[in-house]
Amino acid sequence: MFLPSSDSYSYFFSLPFHYFLFQVMRRCLLPYFHIPIWSSLTIAATIAAVVLATFAQTIFQKKTPSDKMAAKSLQNVVVVGGSYVGMRAAKELASILPASHRVLLIEPHSHFNHLFVFPRFAIVPNHEHKAFVPYSTVFSSAPDPAHHQVVRARVASLHPNHVTLDREWQGSRDLVFEYLVAATGTRLAAPGSMPSEDKLPSVRYLQSYQQGIAKAQSVVVVGGGAVGVQMACDLKEVYPDKNITLVHSRQQLMPVYHEGLSDLIKARFATLGINLVAGSRAVVPPAGFPNGTGEPFHVSLQGDRSVLADFAILATGQTPNNQFLRGLASPETDSASPLPDTLVNPSNGFIRVRPTLQFRDARFSHLFAVGDIADSGAHKAARPGAVQAAIAAKNIAGLVAGRAPSETIVVAPAGIHLTLGLTRNVIFRNPDTAAGATEPFVNLKDDGQEDMGVEGFWERNGVAVASPKDYHL
Ligand SMILES: Cc1cc2nc3c(=O)[nH]c(=O)nc-3n(C[C@H](O)[C@H](O)[C@H](O)COP(=O)(O)OP(=O)(O)OC[C@H]3O[C@@H](n4cnc5c(N)ncnc54)[C@H](O)[C@@H]3O)c2cc1C
Ligand SMILES: NC(=O)c1ccc[n+]([C@@H]2O[C@H](COP(=O)([O-])OP(=O)(O)OC[C@H]3O[C@@H](n4cnc5c(N)ncnc54)[C@H](OP(=O)(O)O)[C@@H]3O)[C@@H](O)[C@H]2O)c1
Repeated sequence: MFLPSSDSYSYFFSLPFHYFLFQVMRRCLLPYFHIPIWSSLTIAATIAAVVLATFAQTIFQKKTPSDKMAAKSLQNVVVVGGSYVGMRAAKELASILPASHRVLLIEPHSHFNHLFVFPRFAIVPNHEHKAFVPYSTVFSSAPDPAHHQVVRARVASLHPNHVTLDREWQGSRDLVFEYLVAATGTRLAAPGSMPSEDKLPSVRYLQSYQQGIAKAQSVVVVGGGAVGVQMACDLKEVYPDKNITLVHSRQQLMPVYHEGLSDLIKARFATLGINLVAGSRAVVPPAGFPNGTGEPFHVSLQGDRSVLADFAILATGQTPNNQFLRGLASPETDSASPLPDTLVNPSNGFIRVRPTLQFRDARFSHLFAVGDIADSGAHKAARPGAVQAAIAAKNIAGLVAGRAPSETIVVAPAGIHLTLGLTRNVIFRNPDTAAGATEPFVNLKDDGQEDMGVEGFWERNGVAVASPKDYHL
């Protein structure tokens, strides 16, 4: 038989207590009342007691002082950046860390920015609100979801054992941690990244972008990476009568990939009627292009050439989000000088990591970097980032258990699933030269959807949608 323990509070709300209550009522009352009606009343009284206890549990459980103390005594594992890779790392950590540790996912966006769809939704209307998904379910499948939290803030600076946030969280801007995973990725020129951290202004931004494009007659796309290629193809399919020109610095489009991809894209441009100016760098004005004035302007190219446009799209690549590392640099380093080579690779600004994804700098073995911000050798994509997130989480769980990190990454050949219009798309993988392959893998398909299957993304993240209005939440 269960007896109340010293932890009488939790005992009061436990299932054994409900059973104990039932036994007491049955034994006390039944000997006196042998007729069925009293027996039924006893059961009814027991059910009422159980319902009352459960009700009291839901009211009081969140607020008990003992729970608050427990949260304070937990060790923090901080994940900085809540995009594809940071969110994956946070989920993995929450599922494998012991109850002594909690995961805090620090992210300034009000909603998950599903940026895969930004280029499409900057052109095609009516889906833009679905690109921003609530963070409500990040920890819902963890063994103890209430343990962990999404902290809405930006890390202003990282120090060896704490981060300083750009705003207060639970009464402080400083947050102490035992382990940290940096998943701060990169930023792109809009519409590759949003100018706002909030959902509604971001939705409005995409809507006004669509309207700007709709009014333009000549659109110039600057940059022949994946963003530029996807946008040029979408533009020409949605608006076949507009002049669409893509200006790219080199002869080969998407130079991270085998030149077969460039050839395939050039053929697609020819079919659609997209003008390609290759081997020419556009001059980007410091204040950006004068879109939306209603007046045409010249996009200047190096070598005294120019292209006339009334709307220009910047698709010129990524800038690493590494400024928060400054707190780890020596105190003499002023904010204008570059970050030390021990922390970031000076040729690209990405965090130097070991194969275990720990910072390469031996002073910071308790810090990890994953996804686009990590100089891991892997190509920049969410898929290899997710594998890295799982590896970092396992290594941290090992360290918590007193073991040395043993999981290491394997860098696979770069691959991409690229749209070439609303339905045309290609899965392309560079040859696996380590395995002796010389030819890329190419799978051209015609099964794309206008909304890029965005609703499935909500579903896969477990965000309930009872009516179309819920996509606006
Ligand atoms: C248009 C587009 C389509 C793509 N499509 C695909 C695809 O189909 N498949 C694929 O595998 N990959 C795709 N990619 C690549 C993929 O999006 C990136 O590889 C992926 O976003 C990297 O994820 P990440 O979490 O490392 O970083 P990011 O996605 O760059 O996210 C970094 C996060 O960190 C936050 N952050 C930054 N600094 C701080 C700070 N100081 N404090 C707190 N938070 C901070 C940011 O707000 C952001 O949420 C696409 C990329 C683009 C641009
Ligand atoms: N479907 C997908 O998986 C998908 C879709 C979109 C994006 N992405 C990923 O998102 C990331 C960002 O993509 P992105 O296309 O923005 O960047 P990107 O891959 O870096 O491509 C940008 C290209 O623009 C060129 N460029 C830069 N400035 C220029 C200028 N002034 N004039 C002419 N050309 C210029 C760059 O060439 P130089 O190097 O010569 O400067 C570069 O090749 C990449 O990792 C990409 O793979 C993935």
